[in-house]
Amino acid sequence: MVCDNLTVGANGHLYFAGLDTIELAKEYGTPTYFMDENKIREKCRIYTKTLKECFGDKALPLYASKAFSIKQMYRILSEEHMGIDVVSPGEIYTACAAGFPMERAFFHGNNKSDEEIVYAMDKQIGYFIVDNFDELAAVQAEAAKRGIVQKVLLRVTPGIDPHTHQKISTGNVDSKFGVAMQTGQALEFAKQALSMDSLSLKGFHCHVGSQLFDIEPLREAGRTMVQFTAQVRDRFGYTAELIDLGGGLGVRYVDSDPEIDLAASIREIADVVKAECAALHLDVPAILMEPGRSIVADAGLTLYTVGSKKEISGIKNYVSIDGGMTDNPRYTLYSSDYTVINAGKMHEKADYVCSVAGKCCESGDLIQEGVHIVTPERGDILAVCTTGAYNYSMSSNYNAIPRPPVVMIRDAKAYVAVERETFDDMICCQK
Ligand code: LLP
Repeated sequence: MVCDNLTVGANGHLYFAGLDTIELAKEYGTPTYFMDENKIREKCRIYTKTLKECFGDKALPLYASKAFSIKQMYRILSEEHMGIDVVSPGEIYTACAAGFPMERAFFHGNNKSDEEIVYAMDKQIGYFIVDNFDELAAVQAEAAKRGIVQKVLLRVTPGIDPHTHQKISTGNVDSKFGVAMQTGQALEFAKQALSMDSLSLKGFHCHVGSQLFDIEPLREAGRTMVQFTAQVRDRFGYTAELIDLGGGLGVRYVDSDPEIDLAASIREIADVVKAECAALHLDVPAILMEPGRSIVADAGLTLYTVGSKKEISGIKNYVSIDGGMTDNPRYTLYSSDYTVINAGKMHEKADYVCSVAGKCCESGDLIQEGVHIVTPERGDILAVCTTGAYNYSMSSNYNAIPRPPVVMIRDAKAYVAVERETFDDMICCQK
């Protein structure tokens, strides 16, 4: 199966994180997001253990909140001694509400408003990851006003093409994020940051892209960031303590995707960083990484109920489910692959080919096309696997459809982490 938390019971049902999905669907209704807490913790531990083994105690994985940001997630991250990357006051608010220690929070974003800078400082955020020159001046001004020294990293663009979907590629010179190395502006960025007395420059950040199976772009990013760090040292006499290499390691959505060995990938990146530091006589900085998808994606599974079927003779079959692009817009946006399973009929042959369609008034509202599943009947339960990343966090109320609940599973016991939205929840801000 596509992930090792999926098994088949003797009753022919799909089991997820040790529980029968048909029973789960009965108990919690559909559509519902299920999250395997043990899997999340396992992934966090791989990152913390491997990064610390390679780079010592100052190394820290920062979970990229954007992949899945709810209070219970921050409680788990806090217990797992992770840091976090946050990109908005909303994520900061959620983390604070869960009691996450904000000194381990790093504030991202390419357009932080003055109000957002104030908000983050009020919450005593650990670090700003400053994206551009305007923001540098704004953070300096607010820190000076408060009489504090704010720790910052600078986001630079290393000019690496990660060969992933264009919409999730960010390390190129032409990017709305960060300041380009290629044009020489990144050096100037460092120079300005060093001249500002209310800022304490701690290091540099880059992120090349997401859903990467080939780790060469990440190794290349490591090498380039070390070279940049050495250049800054040589020019300005400042040696960075931290290098943040961003996120991006891919996960398996379908059987044909390769398996990624996270620990081995991190070690390979570490080898390049250490070798380059040795070549440039640079003390090895503490390395930060910002995994999102690779922490939560395969910890997630969504269950739906099959409704109408439409067999268009000679064209194709549509199977409609009780969710869709409102709870998972990733196929609509990026043509993302997903594994779809008729969860109650695991002992039968998957020889029905169809497109799985959502409920929205929108032809593009599809979860997947051309999937092979056991012939579904109205009322069957469909499982869509690997939905833990960028599903709940990108969900919407389009067509006034309430968001599904999030049910977590810990040690084969399920508990509700987010309630199903009600119609009242959807109109509560409306006058
Ligand atoms: N750090 C930064 C600065 C990022 O921009 C991102 C993702 C990450 C870390 C985490 O990357 P990950 O480890 O999850 O690949 N909505 C898209 C993904 C957008 C990713 C944006 N940035 C999707 O559903 O595929």
